[in-house]
Amino acid sequence: MNTIRRTRISDLLASHDFGSMVNVKGWVRTRRGSKQVNFVALNDGSTIKNIQVVVDLEKFDEEMLKLITTGACLSVDGELVESLGAGQTAEIQAREIEVLGLCDNTYPLQKKGHSMEFLREIAHLRPRTNTFGAVFRIRHNMAIAIHKFFHEKGFYYFHTPLITASDCEGAGQMFQVTTKNLYDLKKDDKGAIIYDDDFFGKQASLTVSGQLEGELAATALGAIYTFGPTFRAENSNTPRHLAEFWMIEPEIAFADLDELTQLEEEFIKYCVKWALDNCKDDLEFLNNMVDKGLIERLQKVVSTDFVRLPYTEGVKILEAAIAGGHKFEFPVYWGCDLASEHERYLVEEHFKKPVIMIDYPKEIKAFYMKQNTDGKTVQGTDVLFPQIGEIIGGSVREENYDKLMARIEELNIPMKDMWWYLDTRRYGSCPHAGFGLGFERLLLFVTGMQNIRDVIPFPRTPNSCNF
Ligand code: 4AD
Ligand code: MG
Repeated sequence: MNTIRRTRISDLLASHDFGSMVNVKGWVRTRRGSKQVNFVALNDGSTIKNIQVVVDLEKFDEEMLKLITTGACLSVDGELVESLGAGQTAEIQAREIEVLGLCDNTYPLQKKGHSMEFLREIAHLRPRTNTFGAVFRIRHNMAIAIHKFFHEKGFYYFHTPLITASDCEGAGQMFQVTTKNLYDLKKDDKGAIIYDDDFFGKQASLTVSGQLEGELAATALGAIYTFGPTFRAENSNTPRHLAEFWMIEPEIAFADLDELTQLEEEFIKYCVKWALDNCKDDLEFLNNMVDKGLIERLQKVVSTDFVRLPYTEGVKILEAAIAGGHKFEFPVYWGCDLASEHERYLVEEHFKKPVIMIDYPKEIKAFYMKQNTDGKTVQGTDVLFPQIGEIIGGSVREENYDKLMARIEELNIPMKDMWWYLDTRRYGSCPHAGFGLGFERLLLFVTGMQNIRDVIPFPRTPNSCNF
């Protein structure tokens, strides 16, 4: 045994080297057949496709054959032969079979057709299903596409810290990082916790965004992007929110609103096209099993121009819809933070294509966004997508020190730990802009999955931190 080098199933299925001896290793998906011959479908994760192993029962030890159960791990030596069965090109006539790992009958993936909810409870095993295998191969491909896109455009991948002392979005939804004994906290006479003797000598948290440090980098390297985990302790139990998610945040010196929205559009299209070109088998599977309109929707996004829509006009469209009898759960008025139902109405029903909304009221956006001359709006952009709602949030940044400082004071943002950020506006400040794409929101769109918990291997959400 094991004298032949292993070949991955993806390579075997593409090979026409019929008659050659090969070795394949993988996990049993199904086993069926007659008293004389069995067909074992083996999968090794290299592709959604299984290879069929043909087992002539007479030639093998009966005790060993009993161990070939769903989920067991096998090493098979055999002859690669052309397959006569529909939908497969090659199969293996087994000569020797070694059971590398037994799988007992408590294995929860015996049958097909489990619910997504059930599979979440066994997230440690769900990558072995067709659906999650497809999703995680696509996830990998999207990460590669993202690095390729920015690298080809001359952006530098810049690593921003995960532990931070500042709240970028100013929303106070941060997880604290501490080594303090929570049962015995030192407090001052006003009852506030004293952090002097904590690990960092001050209060520290997990970052909600790498933007602030990204801005520092952009004003030195010109154009950068971050790509890493971010953390939000918002108690939103929705199919679109995670407590730990990955974000891609480019930041570009000298870019204005037009360049920013152009980059947003180009970037998403590049990633979606990458999936269409490189994840064909997996997308076809998801298109058949999860969402029949998936591939068509992806193709459409690649070839349509995204709408640019000022917030004020968006509100008018929504008000007209209400006047025409459309019912929304939440009210619409100038100044309101649009709910996902409003965003989806604009995208799915009114324009029927992705919308980049711009010029939001400053009250509903973060302190760092560049103020327009009307005194009311800022150059913020959200990219709104069918099925998803907001997929990107970004803005031109306020580069003027006095205006930025005034806004910080207006909003009462504690800036004592952010002197370093303000230094960008003191030492050669420049116009710049950037955005953040939620990686899992992109994956929701590209895979057609319905719940964000099903596009990240190990989701973290309120009351759920397993595996
Ligand atoms: O709109 P957000 O909050 O923007 C920022 O964090 C900026 N600092 C980005 C920047 O300009 N550099 O978040 C950006 C994107 C959202 O559009 C959404 O796609 C995703 O991050 N996102 C989440 N994804 C999953 N779960 C959550 N709880 C998310 N919160 C935001
Ligand atoms: Mg946002």
